[in-house]
Amino acid sequence: MKDDQTSIIQETIGMGTWHMGDEPVKEQAEIEALKVGIDGGLIVIDTAEMYGEGAAETLVGKAIAGYTRSDLYLISKVYPWHASTTELPQALDRSLERLGTDYVDLYLLHWPGDIPLAETVAAMEAAKAAGKIRNWGVSNFDVSQMQALMQVSDGSHCAANQVLYNLGARGIEYDLIPWLQEADIPLIAYSPIAQGDSRGNHFRNDPLLKSMAEQKGISVFQLLLAWTIRNGQTLAIPQTSDAQHMIQNIEAKQIRFSAAELEQIDARFLPPTKKQPLEVI
Ligand SMILES: NC(=O)c1ccc[n+]([C@@H]2O[C@H](COP(=O)([O-])OP(=O)(O)OC[C@H]3O[C@@H](n4cnc5c(N)ncnc54)[C@H](OP(=O)(O)O)[C@@H]3O)[C@@H](O)[C@H]2O)c1
Repeated sequence: MKDDQTSIIQETIGMGTWHMGDEPVKEQAEIEALKVGIDGGLIVIDTAEMYGEGAAETLVGKAIAGYTRSDLYLISKVYPWHASTTELPQALDRSLERLGTDYVDLYLLHWPGDIPLAETVAAMEAAKAAGKIRNWGVSNFDVSQMQALMQVSDGSHCAANQVLYNLGARGIEYDLIPWLQEADIPLIAYSPIAQGDSRGNHFRNDPLLKSMAEQKGISVFQLLLAWTIRNGQTLAIPQTSDAQHMIQNIEAKQIRFSAAELEQIDARFLPPTKKQPLEVI
């Protein structure tokens, strides 16, 4: 049984932090955006030791300094090559130091690596027993990797799988999403708005999405975000450094689709009909 999971299942939108903290000139705006998110009711912040080699965690630490720690749900991730019984505790301590906290709510193996899963799980369980993480999970794991994880002692304690999911990357609907639902392991959707303007411009200019968004009085990016959380059982973690975008992302929680709208979207952005390799960024 996976304890303490309800808090992420109940959340549908959190805050991503990749590329944040990289440029000092942007720091104030980035901190402000995260605070607008927290003040607007978002509690989940997703970060990783990889992001800016610790710079994103440091930024998060600054943003959350004035808030009550227990009101927030912090997720961080360990590099696969740090996911051993000797390295993981040290990587975790460095993350905690940067975040200015003594625990993370969820600690994820960032992607599958060479260290045996049994060793990583043992290291995660030890960190949990030490009170430095509340739960652990994985990221970028496909079905076969989840199945392998379940074979490992305590592997079933996995509390989430964080994978790429947006309207342009629907492959996981074929097998991974049903598998996770069956195993009662929450899905965390990363890059839910297809990385915004940097990669998602074809969505922004799509006639169907444009007209649907216009009818709803929202932006195409809000529509993309609302679509990833449409079943109410997915936590999406969009990243924004822009306070206005943060407010729009919070508003996306309230956006609903009719069955007819979902059918129109499916007809244009086809759901998978066979197994596809797990997409990663
Ligand atoms: N586990 C993994 O391997 C993995 C991989 C990738 C990402 N992630 C996590 O998932 C988070 C999100 O993914 P992502 O950052 O790749 O992509 P994303 O959230 O899909 O897109 C981020 C981009 O969208 C823009 N944006 C955000 N909200 C917007 C809005 N309402 N309107 C218009 N533009 C908007 C942002 O620019 P502005 O700042 O201008 O708003 C930013 O450039 C990451 O930050 C990270 O925490 C995890």
